[in-house]
Amino acid sequence: MTKNSVDQTAGTGSSQIGAVPSANESQDSVPAMADLAAILIETEERDLARSISGALENLIDPAPDALSIFESNGPGSPWRITAYYQEPPDPAALTKDLEAILGQSLPEPARLEDIPDLNWVAMSQAALPPVQAGRFTIHGSHDRHRVPQGPGAILIEAGEAFGTAHHATTYGCLLAIDKLTRNNHFRNVLDLGCGTGVLAIAVARANPRAKILASDIDPGSVDVAKTNFQANRVANRIRAYVAAGLGHPALRREGRYDLLIANILAGPLIMLARDVSHAVVPGGYLVLSGLLNDQADEIVAHYRAAGFMLHEKTRIAGWTTLVLVRL
Ligand SMILES: C[S@@+](CC[C@H](N)C(=O)[O-])C[C@H]1O[C@@H](n2cnc3c(N)ncnc32)[C@H](O)[C@@H]1O
Repeated sequence: MTKNSVDQTAGTGSSQIGAVPSANESQDSVPAMADLAAILIETEERDLARSISGALENLIDPAPDALSIFESNGPGSPWRITAYYQEPPDPAALTKDLEAILGQSLPEPARLEDIPDLNWVAMSQAALPPVQAGRFTIHGSHDRHRVPQGPGAILIEAGEAFGTAHHATTYGCLLAIDKLTRNNHFRNVLDLGCGTGVLAIAVARANPRAKILASDIDPGSVDVAKTNFQANRVANRIRAYVAAGLGHPALRREGRYDLLIANILAGPLIMLARDVSHAVVPGGYLVLSGLLNDQADEIVAHYRAAGFMLHEKTRIAGWTTLVLVRL
């Protein structure tokens, strides 16, 4: 993943996007707000706002440490893109770069914005709006009162581990889970690289009979996931393990999976192709994310060679999510 994170919804999703720490980045490595400077860009046009945030994240060096994009005063109001940097670029130069990349003038030049001296995590929790992905609404406790508390409501606090749905990869996986669980009743599911456990929780909510395992190479993430399973009242349905790839006996003892989800980076996904192939039953589904768009073909090639067929490919904000079927 790149250092910064932006989530850009595709059509069906929320129109609000929040700032999040990057993938695999612990709180400790996230700078305090006092160390950050913010550059603000505003536009009335949603598509332009998305293009700007995509360019900031992927095409302009340095990439921001975090990025937020949302409608300043709710739906219908101007879009605000705020990029947080430890050493911000010159706003005038940034404006020029953006205009060159986008091939159009910005409605207003980028400008430096004062940011209050707040703790980063506290700020991100306060600012993160709920994200709707299919029938799931991922929200922090600060939004509990305004999110209808049905089975689709998933409580995840920002900043503890990766996976609040504010990143395009998590969002893409949630959309895939939403779609797949409408037509399939999965029995045996693995969320490999679970982070906060948000994907495992979504499966648990959508398929109440599924037996679900969640794993992560990072023990801290597994702790966070377990806390989230409890907070979302699915702890009795999901078991969580610290494991690199499928390298834990419990992940293999459980037999083979009819749904395996792995939102990790392209490199580990390539290395895991054989193991994953053995772990998925014929006809079972595999959801892969964490790939930049230009890495997707290579991943598809590796997984085709390992016995999968491409079922669906979704691109959101520079990131691709793949749904494959085991032959
Ligand atoms: C991009 S985050 C995804 C988190 C969550 N599943 C989501 O979709 O938001 C990737 C997670 O995979 C974990 N991870 C990375 N490589 C791994 C590996 N080889 N085996 C297991 N977990 C891994 C990281 O620690 C991190 O928590």
